[in-house]
Amino acid sequence: MNHCPMHTLLDFERFRHGTPRELINRLREEHRILWETDDYSGGHWLLFHQDDIDHVLKTPELFTNNYSPILDDFPAEILAEQQQSMTFMDPPGHRKYRSLVDYAFRLKQLEARKPLMHRIARETVDRVIDRGECEFVNEIAMQMPMRVMFALLGVRDQDFGYVVDLVNTLALADDPEFAENRALGFQASMELIEFGTRLAADHRRNPRDSMTMDVINTAIDGRALGDREFGRFFNNLVVGGLETTRNTLALGLHQLILHPEQYRLLEQDPGLVAGAVEEFLRHQNTVVYLRRTATRDMEYLGQQIRKGDKLVCVLGAPNRDPALFPDPDAFDITRPVNNTRKNYRTFGQGPHYCVGVHQARLNLEVMLEEIVRRMTDFRLLAAPRHARSIFMEGYKEMRVGFARRAA
Ligand code: HEM
Repeated sequence: MNHCPMHTLLDFERFRHGTPRELINRLREEHRILWETDDYSGGHWLLFHQDDIDHVLKTPELFTNNYSPILDDFPAEILAEQQQSMTFMDPPGHRKYRSLVDYAFRLKQLEARKPLMHRIARETVDRVIDRGECEFVNEIAMQMPMRVMFALLGVRDQDFGYVVDLVNTLALADDPEFAENRALGFQASMELIEFGTRLAADHRRNPRDSMTMDVINTAIDGRALGDREFGRFFNNLVVGGLETTRNTLALGLHQLILHPEQYRLLEQDPGLVAGAVEEFLRHQNTVVYLRRTATRDMEYLGQQIRKGDKLVCVLGAPNRDPALFPDPDAFDITRPVNNTRKNYRTFGQGPHYCVGVHQARLNLEVMLEEIVRRMTDFRLLAAPRHARSIFMEGYKEMRVGFARRAA
């Protein structure tokens, strides 16, 4: 039975309390590929197995990114703009654009950024430590990705709030607390591009040391990069890097609250921080799915796929596959790091594999290390509140209490 008349998975009701992971496990056991209806253009194919997901994400000539990684059909004029940005491109054009930004996230560059990151971690904890309680999502989890990214891109302090609001409106366009309707979400992405365009112009007038400066001084095919082209990079980077990292840390800390014995392990051995971060990423992947679009009619996995069909790779499915991870539903920070990294699909796969992967890991590791060093006995002061989304799992609020750790 491969055709289903009703919503099976990607339905807001099913995601009301977060990603329905038991349902995903069941669907992975029962199906290679499954058709379900949706509210955007009739329906899409769901994929659950690591091999199939890898094939789709690594074969852009059959499964293009030109129509966005999310299910929504974009209004034509916004789609036309987005198709000129890296995340909507296919190789070979995609590779040229990506090479302008990926240098900034290589391990060598990260090494130089570490002192800044340790300072951000210290200041973040300083701000809450005497209070014994805080709203973890915004006061802690958002701080590292936001401040690192904005320092890197040369965003001025007074603009932080404006940019973060736009990212929230865009990423959480289905949550009425962030956007009255999804058109406002599309609009927010255009405003981010415009902000990035102004940021590039500001750098040309007031040159300063930043990634923005480097990128606007490079050329593609012998042609200097325009301000608007930079604006599109800006949009890709802030949308890719902020909510994802914030959500992963908040979801991960929640797991540690549910499993205090694992927090104790971290306190006894800070060497486990890297493993804990990988387990956050595997067990609590924040990006629910990636969509690609068929470029031609084809037979695939025994189904007739038509040109224009949407294929949806469910990233949490391989992450909890017992063929890849023993006891996959257990949250266990002592799993071997290399096996986890090799087998989860939290950062995607293929040409669009997360360009910020090393930055993301380091953000999470430095922040978690500081938390564990100085804070203990975390407890929930209220149930965490899920953002309304079928694309991005995360909390919009998590109030926690904690104690200062004895020096
Ligand atoms: C836990 C944190 C993160 C997660 C879970 C995550 C996840 C992902 C995923 C699944 C993709 C693939 C998108 C696709 O194939 O269509 C991706 C791409 C991307 N990510 Fe991340 N990401 C994270 C952090 C970051 C950070 C910190 C940055 C920036 C410094 C970043 C920038 C990007 C960009 C620009 C792309 C698009 C790459 C391309 O189109 O070639 N991400 N990310």
